[in-house]
Amino acid sequence: MKIRLNSLPPSVAIPFDLFVAIGGRHVHYLRAGDMLKAEKISSFEKKAPESFFVLSAERGNYQSFVRDSLMSEKLSTKQKALILRESTMGLVEELFERPDIETALRDARQVIEDFVAFMDSDSNAMASLIGLSSHDFYTYNHSLDVSIYSLGLGQAVGFRGDELKELGLGGLFHDIGKRYIPLDIICKNGPLTDDEWKLMQMHPQYGLVILDEHKSPANIKACAFEHHESLKGNGYPQGLQAHEIHPMARVVAVADTYDALTTKRSYNDPMKPTDAIELMAQKLAGKYDPEVMKALIAIFQKLKVA
Ligand SMILES: [Fe+2]
Ligand SMILES: [Fe+2]
Repeated sequence: MKIRLNSLPPSVAIPFDLFVAIGGRHVHYLRAGDMLKAEKISSFEKKAPESFFVLSAERGNYQSFVRDSLMSEKLSTKQKALILRESTMGLVEELFERPDIETALRDARQVIEDFVAFMDSDSNAMASLIGLSSHDFYTYNHSLDVSIYSLGLGQAVGFRGDELKELGLGGLFHDIGKRYIPLDIICKNGPLTDDEWKLMQMHPQYGLVILDEHKSPANIKACAFEHHESLKGNGYPQGLQAHEIHPMARVVAVADTYDALTTKRSYNDPMKPTDAIELMAQKLAGKYDPEVMKALIAIFQKLKVA
């Protein structure tokens, strides 16, 4: 099971073996009970950020170790936000890479519960999580950031409890249909041709099919299927009218566009948060739910002050 080294706290005994992939082989990197030094973590993260593994049988151990770290009083909110984000990245990568997503879907629930618990435990949690948002566009980073923004926006517009968690999952899985889109289209270095664009626009349907196969709740399916709809009626794939768009998909749509605009892609520079919000509120006015837009503006005003 692939993990991120940054998901482990420094200077704490790690209760499981760690492996590193070198030339296609898994080699022991750290024995259970040993500690990782902060310098070792950062130097290896830079050299081989994708290459750390724990045994699949240790999955539960790894997850409870991460959860314990999030409760620790010795770590700052910023350190915990990093651990939470990095531990989730491994899972999000699995979601998009593994043919079998059953386990990942199940684990994702726990992850969202951890995010919500973290948000509830500390008033600076959301700011720390947003501060870690990656400004490079990969489907994984994007999915996680959309999930985090959806939780923040969703809470601001009144979602609570199980509904808020489903919204977080909806954000995490909104682009799951991109599993069926060829990688060379997803990673294309430049604008898409008409045919490629048509194919790309299939991802909401594909997402619905995947989530339906795994018997996901209707709210999560709606986020995947309706996040490219527009309140003006000119969205895709269904061209729904404003009143027909699911309340959670409205939140995910704002989170999705905001993240896409503020993220660096190979062919354009990221916009500043204030410029992205201005574009959404003015040029793109009418596409997005006004209540959710208000929440987005309020969150960023609060972050700016902080
Ligand atoms: Fe999408
Ligand atoms: Fe997206």
